[in-house]
Amino acid sequence: MNKILVTGGLGFIGSHTVVELQNEGYEVVIIDDLSNSSEKVLDGITAITGEKPIFEKLDLKDKADVEAFFAKHNDVKGVIHFAASKAVGESVKEPLMYYENNIGSLIYILKELKKLSSAAFIFSSSCTVYGQADELPITENAPVKKAESPYGNTKQIGEEIIQETCKVVPTLKAIALRYFNPVGAHESVEIGELPIGVPQNLVPFITQTAIGLREELSVFGDDYPTPDGTCIRDYIHVVDLAKAHVVALGRLLKGENKTSYETFNLGTGKGSSVLEVVQSFERVSGKKLNYKIVGRREGDIISAYADTNKANNDLGWKTKLSLDDAMRSAWKWEQKVREKE
Ligand code: UD1
Repeated sequence: MNKILVTGGLGFIGSHTVVELQNEGYEVVIIDDLSNSSEKVLDGITAITGEKPIFEKLDLKDKADVEAFFAKHNDVKGVIHFAASKAVGESVKEPLMYYENNIGSLIYILKELKKLSSAAFIFSSSCTVYGQADELPITENAPVKKAESPYGNTKQIGEEIIQETCKVVPTLKAIALRYFNPVGAHESVEIGELPIGVPQNLVPFITQTAIGLREELSVFGDDYPTPDGTCIRDYIHVVDLAKAHVVALGRLLKGENKTSYETFNLGTGKGSSVLEVVQSFERVSGKKLNYKIVGRREGDIISAYADTNKANNDLGWKTKLSLDDAMRSAWKWEQKVREKE
């Protein structure tokens, strides 16, 4: 059984990926510093798969701890690296913290992988690397634009570090997955998104408003050059996204990769406006959402959705779940979380 390390494995996308890895028979070791997650997520994972993954609380900024971890787990065959800080606004206020958290940890892990006889590495990147792309849908060949925030910059620099390392470390193979907008929760509602404080992202803000935690959703701008005037994004169900990680890992482990470093867009290929997301929520929940149109949010791009051809053809992966599926599961999850409080 291949042993896979999942960093940040108790987070939103990480936990869903751990489930899919276990479903495919991988042995999973999670490391997480619990800075933005809870150890209770382990129970959710175990409830779904019937198997408790190994968990070690570890801060990836601690070089000695990372070295000790790999000395103990020198049979790791692959790493899926989710652990990172991800709040765009916070990154503008605390750039050094973001570079230390997101770049420092990446370097320590790669240094350890360099020592192994072979290693597969999957990196959480983001469509944020494209900024406002000149052409839609966005292909992997679209130019990487100057990052709008230190957070975005850590994804660009991270990709470059990995690519340059792969060039000179023949035993290392890597894939950077550029996520569009991950939403939804596992069908079992044992795991889902757990934002701390006021959510910055659209879908958790919608569900928290519907449950009564927030008064109303502010829709940031309806004067964009789009059909209904609101911004367009590619919302991908987190379970579809999680499955793509397992496929990408398998590609590297089986040696099916074309080059030692590859990038793939992970999206549905379909753009949805903010108002379409609201309508989807209202349709599946049967609830009317309280919202108002306000001014634009600084730094928002107008429209982004993925060209999925490369992922579909080369990975043999396709999304199966719809925006309605995602909104339904996000709503079920929100209700379950609040029931417990
Ligand atoms: C944001 C980040 C992006 C990150 C991604 C992770 C910014 C500018 N970008 O992307 O770097 O990779 O999250 O998921 O923060 N909206 C509202 N009202 C709200 C919240 C959002 O109208 O209360 C709108 C936004 O204007 C946007 C859409 O909903 O058009 C999606 O917003 P969000 O969920 O924050 O994602 P992104 O901005 O695409």
